[in-house]
Amino acid sequence: MSFKELYQSKKMDADQALNLIRSGDRVVVGHACAEPSYLLDVLTEKAEQYENVEIVHMVAMGKAGYCAPGMEKHFRHNSLFVGGSTRKAVAEGRGDFTPCFFSEIPKLFKNGSLPVDAALIQTAPPDENGNLSLGISVDYTLQAAKSAKTVIVQVNPQMPVTFGGTIHISDVTAVVEHDAPLLTLEPPVIGDVELAIGANCAGLIRDTLQLGIGAIPDAVLRFLGDKKDLGIHSEMFSDGVVELAEAGVITNRLKKTNPGKYVASFLMGTRKLYDFVDGNPDVAMLPVDYVNNPVEVMKEDNIVSVNSCVQIDLMGQAASESVGLTQISGVGGQVDFVRGAAMAANGRSILAFPSTAAKGKISKIVPLLDEGAAVTTSRNDIDYAVTEYGIAKLKGRTLRQRALALIEIAHPDFRDGLRKVFEERFPGRRS
Ligand code: COA
Repeated sequence: MSFKELYQSKKMDADQALNLIRSGDRVVVGHACAEPSYLLDVLTEKAEQYENVEIVHMVAMGKAGYCAPGMEKHFRHNSLFVGGSTRKAVAEGRGDFTPCFFSEIPKLFKNGSLPVDAALIQTAPPDENGNLSLGISVDYTLQAAKSAKTVIVQVNPQMPVTFGGTIHISDVTAVVEHDAPLLTLEPPVIGDVELAIGANCAGLIRDTLQLGIGAIPDAVLRFLGDKKDLGIHSEMFSDGVVELAEAGVITNRLKKTNPGKYVASFLMGTRKLYDFVDGNPDVAMLPVDYVNNPVEVMKEDNIVSVNSCVQIDLMGQAASESVGLTQISGVGGQVDFVRGAAMAANGRSILAFPSTAAKGKISKIVPLLDEGAAVTTSRNDIDYAVTEYGIAKLKGRTLRQRALALIEIAHPDFRDGLRKVFEERFPGRRS
């Protein structure tokens, strides 16, 4: 049978394809903006026919109807990174959270720690050899498809064709064709605080960059216009990178691994970003157990990672994924890159964050983390902390020096309170 005939033989409608899912199955869903939203919509419409189907998802950018109130009997959400559409469900007990480094997720599927019954993914249409490109999400999605007994693919001509992650039609169980716009992430609103943080971070940037999600990474990019030959090795990137690429600032020329290539594992942005990567041989979309593996990251001698946190204590322990016991996100790639950058010859890691939260009412720099907060980046790992008030270099510093450096970059309204704690904790010495 030719690849074309094989493809045709696997084509069915979503209803038929989703009948392949059984009660009790563990179903892994394609990640972030590559989520096969149409398949998920039909799955939730058919909820009555399932009992106790576990839906494993990382950043859910769609409706996440499977964890809406009323779905408890049919679906149980297992979140690998709580996001806007799943936060409430996890907080209210309709979902669970599994702590895990992003780089290790493929291994969980592969080694039986989290066996996969079915994968629901979205790809571009097949090429002449029967390969379907995973487009904007290779990360864990590729391994989920490789490990699953049943692979249901939403084939969408609007998915860009990227290089690095494909699944062959012979490894697919069912094809559901559905032409629809991909999920997008609009550029964040960047205010004065983010701009000041971006300016502070820009001075620390060397040749190669990893950037997290949100307003701060985007603000950093705005201050890099006068740099030359920057490179990207990052689990994800967004529209801000396209602008710098078009301006000739990012060339990837100096990268030690994959020279000339933008290396990423997933992408979230607007159609402009998706058009930029479509068929672009300079973009390598690779599995997250490669991109985020600290042993690979460390090969980029001059890598600088930029991520964020919700709270940091005076020892430099950063809580980036929970507010007290409430899980608001996940570790994602933060520690993967903090560790990789630390091992690189000339690497740096930055945790950049506004000095306050809740419209200025709460300091993010605190004497102790909130009770129950998960330490995401440990005090042994942290390197630079950056706010709109400056830069605190923590690595190599004593507890006393760290506390002083962090107080210097706290919001002025909270510095006196923090100094009082400092004096009690470190009696006898003020500097
Ligand atoms: N105390 C109480 N609440 C706080 C807080 C604090 N110290 N800091 C933040 N919050 C609240 C905010 O008010 C906000 O609540 P809301 O959604 O109800 O408005 C929520 O927590 C999220 O904070 P916000 O500052 O809007 O988040 P962000 O979009 O800038 O993301 C992180 C910041 C830290 C959550 C995010 O960077 C993250 O998840 N990091 C860990 C993973 C990571 O770095 N991965 C690598 C890149 S993928």
